[in-house]
Amino acid sequence: MALLLTHAAELLTLAGPDRPRRGAELAELSLVRDGAVLFAEGKVLRSGPTDSVARHLPAGIGRIEEHDCRGRIVTPGLVDSHTHLVFAAPRLDDYERRIAGASYAEIAEAGGGIHSSLARVREASVDQLSELARQWMMRALAFGTTTIEVKTGYGLELEAERRSLQAAARAAAAAGMDAPRTFLGAHVVPRGRDRAAYLEEITEAMIPAFTSARASGYAPEFADAFCDASAFTLEECRRVLMQARRHGLQLKLHAEQFGHLGGIGLGIEMGAVSVDHLDTASPSDAALLGRAPTVATLIPGANFFLGQPYPPARDLIAAGAAVALATDFNPGTCPILSLPLIMSLACSGMRLSPAEAWSAATINGAAALGRAASCGSLAPGKRGDAAVFEVDDHRAIPYFAGHNLCRGVVQGGTWRETAACI
Ligand code: NIG
Ligand code: FE
Repeated sequence: MALLLTHAAELLTLAGPDRPRRGAELAELSLVRDGAVLFAEGKVLRSGPTDSVARHLPAGIGRIEEHDCRGRIVTPGLVDSHTHLVFAAPRLDDYERRIAGASYAEIAEAGGGIHSSLARVREASVDQLSELARQWMMRALAFGTTTIEVKTGYGLELEAERRSLQAAARAAAAAGMDAPRTFLGAHVVPRGRDRAAYLEEITEAMIPAFTSARASGYAPEFADAFCDASAFTLEECRRVLMQARRHGLQLKLHAEQFGHLGGIGLGIEMGAVSVDHLDTASPSDAALLGRAPTVATLIPGANFFLGQPYPPARDLIAAGAAVALATDFNPGTCPILSLPLIMSLACSGMRLSPAEAWSAATINGAAALGRAASCGSLAPGKRGDAAVFEVDDHRAIPYFAGHNLCRGVVQGGTWRETAACI
């Protein structure tokens, strides 16, 4: 059955080229008032003014389910290009310690941080991990997210990383989500492991094992590494990324989050699809990103949650970088799963305009996942993913910080009611 959304107060089509927006383009939403979108066979068939979309329906379209979106906005489904959502438990002790004054590094040294998540994930079965991951995905969906990247990185041994990938794949199928998987074996060196031996396990055992599992349905699409004083050096990241690329994975990199190790330059040099965080990006990094295809993914939720200064978003945009926004949902640095709240933080904390935040959380998020041609806008032929919000002006989404105003999503052309109460 086809699906027709009509009379949206604003329809943000984001129509345009299948590539990330840069500079002034970021504020262009291809906004249509009294807009409509027609979905058929899982895809966007048409979008534009209700008058033209709904009055001249294609012959042979068959039965149509129609939703009147008066007083609401219709947008592309949000694209969250960076999460660590396969974990087993929140880290509430770390949270209290940080409030009392301990730094992220001090907490990690005292046995908290990423290390403390490992034990719980290693004990958990695929069933347990996938059910938790499915629940997070359903919550993300309730905020309007229809594509969500999922990293491993809390197993950090072959079988626990494999279970994390399997859990992510199973959760995505159960939630009906497009959820590309990223292998983040290079998150930290697990306590008690020899550094060189662990790196060797990543490059010689994990990457070959997981990429040769393509037919099994849980292989990752991307590899990532945490380039940081508390994690891996530039050269170690290079080694991991080279091996991942050799095995056909696309690359991402956690770069310049706490210090400045040169991760942005490495990511660009390696052809990474995105470099993420960028808190300490320098003017020369911004200039490099302005010329590179690599997407600059900002994570203001982690800055907010850790009480740290925000990345230089305006400088990056001025330099022409393809800026995307993501949640970084994880148990340590950012438990925020709402992209609309991330948009609020981006606007208030990094001075993005609301329109820029919309592009960064849709088409540019899609580009950060190599999906600019298949999602992130409501252009004909793209996957039928959309979100419907209970506001009549797109600026009201970042403005109403912390409200969940999403009332429904379209997933692969199918309508799904989300939050029922105001
Ligand atoms: O993106 N920086 C590395 N990884 C995560 C944090 C993971 C954790 O603390 O559990 C991040 O912020
Ligand atoms: Fe992260």
